[in-house]
Parts: sequence; C-alpha cells; structure tokens
Amino acid sequence: MSVEGKKKQSGNKEKSLQPPREKSARAYLKSLGEYEAMHKRALEDPENYWAERAKLLTWFKPWERVLDYDFIDNPKVEWFKGGKLNASYNCLDRHITGKRRNKVALIWQGDPEDDVRIWTYQMLYDRVCRFASALKKLGVRKGDRVVIYLPMIPELVVSMLACTRIGAVHVCVFAGFSTGSVQTRVQDAEAKVVITADGMFRAGRVMPLKSIMDEALKDCSSVRRVIVVNRANMPTTMRERRDLWWRDVMADRSLDANLPCAHMDAEDNLFILYTSGSTGKPKGVRHSIGGYLTYAAHTMQLVFDHREEDVHWCTADIGWVTGHTYTVYGPLLLGGTTVMFEGGPRWPDPDRFWQIVEKYRVNTFYTAPTAIRTLIREGDEWVEKYDLSSLRVLGSVGEPIGPDTWNWYRNKIGGGKLPVVDTWWQTETGGIMISPLPFATPLKPGSATLPLPGIDTTVLKEDGTPASQGEAGHLVIKRPWPGMMTGVFGDASKFKETYFSRFPGYFLSGDGVRLDEDGYHWLLGRLDDVINVSGHRFSTAEMEAAFNAHPAVAESSVVGMPHDVKGEVIYAFVHLTLEEKPTESLRADLRKWLRKEIGPIATPEYIQFVNGLPKTRSGKIMRRVLRKIVSGNVDELGDLTTLSDPGVVDELLGEWERLTGKSVLS
Ligand code: PRX
Repeated sequence: MSVEGKKKQSGNKEKSLQPPREKSARAYLKSLGEYEAMHKRALEDPENYWAERAKLLTWFKPWERVLDYDFIDNPKVEWFKGGKLNASYNCLDRHITGKRRNKVALIWQGDPEDDVRIWTYQMLYDRVCRFASALKKLGVRKGDRVVIYLPMIPELVVSMLACTRIGAVHVCVFAGFSTGSVQTRVQDAEAKVVITADGMFRAGRVMPLKSIMDEALKDCSSVRRVIVVNRANMPTTMRERRDLWWRDVMADRSLDANLPCAHMDAEDNLFILYTSGSTGKPKGVRHSIGGYLTYAAHTMQLVFDHREEDVHWCTADIGWVTGHTYTVYGPLLLGGTTVMFEGGPRWPDPDRFWQIVEKYRVNTFYTAPTAIRTLIREGDEWVEKYDLSSLRVLGSVGEPIGPDTWNWYRNKIGGGKLPVVDTWWQTETGGIMISPLPFATPLKPGSATLPLPGIDTTVLKEDGTPASQGEAGHLVIKRPWPGMMTGVFGDASKFKETYFSRFPGYFLSGDGVRLDEDGYHWLLGRLDDVINVSGHRFSTAEMEAAFNAHPAVAESSVVGMPHDVKGEVIYAFVHLTLEEKPTESLRADLRKWLRKEIGPIATPEYIQFVNGLPKTRSGKIMRRVLRKIVSGNVDELGDLTTLSDPGVVDELLGEWERLTGKSVLS
C-alpha cells in the first residue's frame, strides 16, 4: 500500500497522560528526562551502552568486540563476537545456585481450570537437563535444528531450553498451523528431530496434532525422530523406529540430571522462527544467542519495569515471537515468575483472563489488542467481579491499538491509572523497539510513543528522503540493536533483499508510521503484502499460492479487509477454472482447503467468486484497487485508466456489498 493511502487511518492526537507519580519512585527509569538522557547516551556511545546491558547475562568468556555490522553492501550484524555463553545456563543454572532455587519459575494454567503445574527453578532445571540429555542420546548435536510443534504446555518450555543447553537450534511452529505450513517449515529448517503432542485442548475441545505432523512428515526426509507428549489421551499412531513417547524418553534412568551446558559462541543461532513476508515462502528468521538474550533481558527489565517479586503474564502463544521473548526468555533470564496459559480468553466464559490475573495476582500483563477488543464486546460485567489490584503495568502488542481500546484497557483493567505500554516490534527485531517506559513516558492513547534507548528510528518517504513531522512514511531503523535478526536461514541473499535493498543503509520494517510534534510514533500498519489477522502475520502471496493449488481455482488474490475486532480479516477474490461453477459448497470447500493448507487462523472471512480481476494491460493484478474495494472506499479508487477492463470494478463492488452486507462509503 502507498504511504499516502495509510495517512487517513492514523490515530488522533490527544493530550498526553503523565505517568503515575507514586509508582515512579521505584522504577528503573523515573522520568522523561531520565529516558532522554539514556537514549542520548546510547546513541552517542552505543558500544559501551550495550556492553553494559549485556552484563544482565552471565558470560563464560567475555566478548572481544561489541559490534561489527554493515547495513549497505553486504548486510550483516555481529554482536559480542568472541563471547561465550549458554541460554539455558542464563535462564536456570545461575538462579539455582542462590536465593531463587525454590522460587516459582513457571506457573502453568491448563485449559481445564484444575489443570495447574507450578515449577520452581530447580524443578525446571532438572527437567531441562534430563530432556537435553535425552536429545543428546538421540543424536542431536550443536547446530542441529529441532522443530517444536506443541500446544501451550510446559514441555514446550522444557524443549526450548533443552535445545539451547546442547547448542541445538529450536524452531517453534505455532500449533494452530496445519499440514502445508508445518511441512514447509520442517523442510526448510531440515529438522533432525520433531517434538509434538498427540493433541491439544482448545476451549474445552480436543484437536489433533500428531496426525497433522504425520501428514506433513510424509515429505520431510531430514527427520529421524519424533517425540510425542501425551497431552490429550488421543488414539495415536506411533511409527516404529521413528516415534517415541515423551514419558518413555524421560523415564530413562541414565539421563544426566545435571547435564553440563555447551559453551556457545555469542553469534551462534539460538533459534529460527518462521514469519510471513511479502513473498509466498515464509522466511526463517535467525536470532543469535548473545545479542538476542541481551535484548530480551534488557527490554523485559525496562518496559515491564520488572521486579524480583513480579508475576508476569504474557498471553501470546510461544509459537510466535512474543511468547519466545516475553513468556520464556525475558522473564526467565531475570529470574522472574512467568505465567503460561493453555487456553483462550473466552472459555468457559469471557472472564478467563481476569480470573487468572486475580488467581495468581499477576503484576505485569501483556496481551494483544484483538483480545481486548473481543472482551470489550462481551461487556464490562465480566471484568467488574474481579480484584485486579495486583496489576502494575499493562502491555499491548501485535497491531495498532486504537484510542478507544487503549482507553478501555487503561480504565477498566487498569482502574484508570495504570500505564499502558503499547509496544511495537516484530519477529525480526527480537524484542520491543518502540514503547513507553511505564513510569517515565507520558502516554498518548493509540501511540507507541518513543523508541527505546539506543533505537534509532527514522521515517522515509517513498523516494527515500526523510518525511517531515506529521507526514506518513516507511518506518526504518538506522543502526543495529542486539535483538536484531542475524539473517534468513538457508538463504543468504534474502536478508539484504528483504530488509536493506529498498533503502540501503536502513533496516526496513515494512510498517508505515507518522511522527507527531513530540516525536511520538503513530503506527499505521503494514505497507507490504502482509496482513495482520488478530495480531498474526500472514503473507497474501502464501495464501494465494494455497488457493491456486486447488484444482477448481484458476487465479486468486487475497487482501486484508478492515475489521472491528480482528483488525483485519482475510478477503479472497477467486477466479474459478472454466469448468467450475461458483457454488456454496465449493466456497465451503475452499475455506476448508485453506484451513488445511495453512491453519484455522488463516480461515478466509469472505471468498468472493469473480469473473475477472482488475489487471493492468500487462496482466498485473492491481491489488491497490482490491484493497479499496474491500474497504468500501470507492472515492479513493484512484486512476483506473490503466486497467485492461475498468468495468470489472463495478461488478466486484456489487458482489462485495452482497457478500458483506456493507455498502460503499460514498
Ligand atoms: O505491523 C506490525 C505489527 O505486527 C508486525 C510484526 O508481526 P510479528 O513479526 O508477527 O510480531 C508480532 C509481535 C511482535 C509489525 O510489522 N505490530 C506489532 N506491534 C505493533 C504492531 N503494529 C502497531 N502497533 C504495535 N504495537
């Protein structure tokens, strides 16, 4: 989308709200002045600033060089070269030698209310060591990739940390993905071992996982072993010599419950996480050990103002980056207590979040605008019966949180006084980049406010020149930060091509942004062909490829349609092959097809059958026109003279009105 097209969607400026004074006294950063001084220092002397922050970790060997990078010719970034460390050591070992040995590391709340597991640091350490020892016995070595396709159960955290203990690279695949998406990821990562479960609980129902994985593995020759957690007591087919039950693996008495951890290089891969970009194939985003962990600990401390006694709850699934950084690594690196929840916000009733906050006296709470919007619609009575007074900081992530949702969050959940930290970041950035510091930054509802210390954001216009204040443009970042991705797995050229070719010298985020007179950032959504459904990122090209693989489809085009609760929903225009008739059963079949190929979260809200798509005379589909159609914005359709058949637009609009029950705005 063009930058100009996004301009109208930006939020309104409102008077800023000062941080709560009484809480500021204990905060890491207590005032805007302190933030500004730290930001200035970090920009003027980045090496010393980040070297100091890296001391949040325990290093086996100090680094020789803080930073080496190139953002132009041969983009690369290397943090803390020469340094040696281990993630699992930093999350566990160093805590159990002191006062935190019997502190609760993990509070796991299952989907069924009575399913709860509470593990201390010592208990988590024991499981991680034994599972790491088991992986080693199965032949997993330094650098090997292990795909983790698990629901939100504690074995997921154990698996991740066990990989890091022996230097293997974890590749979490969100359990909501189906066969096609799972297969692409396992293949691309060339995983040696896969960890999955028989099934998963979702809102009281049981869904299969292992059978999806089996289907995906039909064409994944790299996989030697599949370890299966019994979560749901589902009938499960186990393939001989390949599949093992988790409980059998862990029952081995010879596993080393004090397995020493591998001394890893700071720039070794910690994990790979696949994310959708503007091309059909998802990208395996690589994160390094030293840089990523430094940034996870640093942002956890500053943005959530993390305290030793805090109970922190990030509601994101660990299959996404938010769960990696703020359910697992951030809290555990700092020796915190993290809550992990298997279920969703509305089951059995839409008070589940608030009930859990009260039950565990959660202090810092982090969720997505889409969840908040869903709960707003359920009515305030679901909130009012709970004591939420333990809360100190409220966070939001994943998509723009409009001022209305922001205000409800602050007023209803935060009693009208808690700081709401609207945090902007991405899989690629590893951790939070733009966000208020809860007790230092004056807030403006709907704005992610200011970049964190040392984060050098800039706004560029289409022609690469800087945008002026108030003008919308591309959000780019001028210099590296430790959480930054280090490359695209298996594709050396993709890193440069995707992030540095459009504006050489800058890291391209793909998002639009506008700065107001105070330098506050107002995020405007994606500028590329990525859509954001309920805070989950999808590439339209990936979905089009899935549609086009259906035998009835000749051609398709997928765009995001604005939606009150989900932010955006998937709207597909489908042109059938000559032999096919557009029927409701075919529509249902296509919907099912996409769910199977990508996952239930990729279910299209609307599938519109078309006789033709708007194309230029050279045959290129004009997605810009389709986007305007689904937003009902006919005034802004722009110049249609380049279309080979301008008549197609009216036909598309008419059918859009019929399907959605909406009408065009003009
Ligand atoms: O468009 C931005 C949106 O989510 C994208 C990143 O998605 P993903 O890599 O899946 O990571 C999501 C969680 C970190 C961004 O390019 N986004 C994320 N946070 C915000 C946001 N948009 C507006 N405001 C935010 N706070």
